[in-house]
Amino acid sequence: MSTIDYGDKIPNNVNLTENRTLQRALEHWQPGFLNWWKEAGPENSRTHDVYLRTAISVDPSGWAQFGYVKMPDYRWGIFLNPAEADRKVNFGDHMGQPAWQEVPGEHRANLRRLIVTQGDTEPASVEQQRHLGATAPSLYDLRNLFQVNVEEGRHLWAMVYLLHSYFGRDGREEAEELLARRSGDADNPRILGAFNERTPDWLSFFMFTYFTDRDGKFQLCALAESGFDPLARTTRFMLTEEAHHMFVGESGVSRVIQRTCEVMNELGTDDPARLRAAGVIDLPTIQRYLNFHFSVTIDLFGADQSSNAAIFYSTGLKGRFEEGKRADDHILKNDTYKVLEVVGGALVEKEVPMLNALNEVLRDDFIKDSIGGVSRWNKVIEKAGLPFRLQVPHKAFNRRIGGLSGVRVSPAGEVVSEAQWRENEDKWLASAEDREFVASLMGRVVEPGKFANWIAPPMIGINRQPVDFEYVRFN
Ligand SMILES: [Fe+2]
Ligand SMILES: [Fe+2]
Repeated sequence: MSTIDYGDKIPNNVNLTENRTLQRALEHWQPGFLNWWKEAGPENSRTHDVYLRTAISVDPSGWAQFGYVKMPDYRWGIFLNPAEADRKVNFGDHMGQPAWQEVPGEHRANLRRLIVTQGDTEPASVEQQRHLGATAPSLYDLRNLFQVNVEEGRHLWAMVYLLHSYFGRDGREEAEELLARRSGDADNPRILGAFNERTPDWLSFFMFTYFTDRDGKFQLCALAESGFDPLARTTRFMLTEEAHHMFVGESGVSRVIQRTCEVMNELGTDDPARLRAAGVIDLPTIQRYLNFHFSVTIDLFGADQSSNAAIFYSTGLKGRFEEGKRADDHILKNDTYKVLEVVGGALVEKEVPMLNALNEVLRDDFIKDSIGGVSRWNKVIEKAGLPFRLQVPHKAFNRRIGGLSGVRVSPAGEVVSEAQWRENEDKWLASAEDREFVASLMGRVVEPGKFANWIAPPMIGINRQPVDFEYVRFN
């Protein structure tokens, strides 16, 4: 069960050869996927040999293998965590019933919508990161970018497998649509806002993989609780790959900070202009990037009060983060939760039924988790003996979704007027000028062991290889 069959055209651990209809459907979809990769995947990368990990087993002790691969030959496939014997639905109105192995008819539309929404984010991020290879700060970083990209491609396969296996003709149509939408396209954009933003430079990429891939982690954790067992098993395995994406983000930002601190100490200054002249990214600019990515990412959790969230939970389709570890009744009909609203020009907490506030519950879990990395970034600054500290902005800052959209709130959490907002916007969010400066630093470094001036080398290489290993070979 745990070994993946690579003899198949589509590697899998779901006995694809025994399900001819599904195999044919997926083999029919595969050329479209490869065309999408060619058209919208990493630019000018087809002939590179990249030192990549490939999933070979779903056994946590030895699930991946490393070696040089040309990305179009990457073994994208379908891997599910092993089934848990007698698994039950563990929350909502169906709690205690056996987990579903087939789609329950009455929940079909909602389940399809959850899978399509998750599936859409996977190719979207590859599209957003398409041009970054041209400005990689090192071979090590270029390899990490490509690793994230191929695994997001595999996550698309994971969702398409569910659509093809369980949703018949509309599932196949949705799978085609997943290849047709494009991030940022005016006519046919990706479904969620943050996935239509540009990822124009490497600081954005690191912030994206730290914050937005972490949104992925929380969504996948909530889906891994699903009463629909194939979805739970598929998303569980996706989480093993997700950890590396967040590592790329956290360590990437950390290395940018480290390099800036080194130059601050060398020059004995915190003056952004002098630091910029020395070719590093000043800490206030890093803070403004953080403010942008944090606020755009927390919008992904949806409206703070949502009847859909209540339905997804009560019907057993989408749980909470670590549902099994929570001590309540897992039905939540008598529980309340606090959400924010603006009353008389101030933010106040309001108690609402918890079932309607489950997006907010997941958002708050995400916020707790993302603060951890920010304090590790601050340790780097502290170690350098410098007083600056990064902070996540208030959760009402720069929101576009839910009850807080349309109110202007400062990063510190004060409600401000439109005029105050406009006056301070460039101090709070990465400005056009900040982005232009960061873009001016981006230049390609491809000599093994060399790093761009604005980022420190990592402590260790990938898979115990040295830092100056030739992670990408150009042909
Ligand atoms: Fe993903
Ligand atoms: Fe990811």
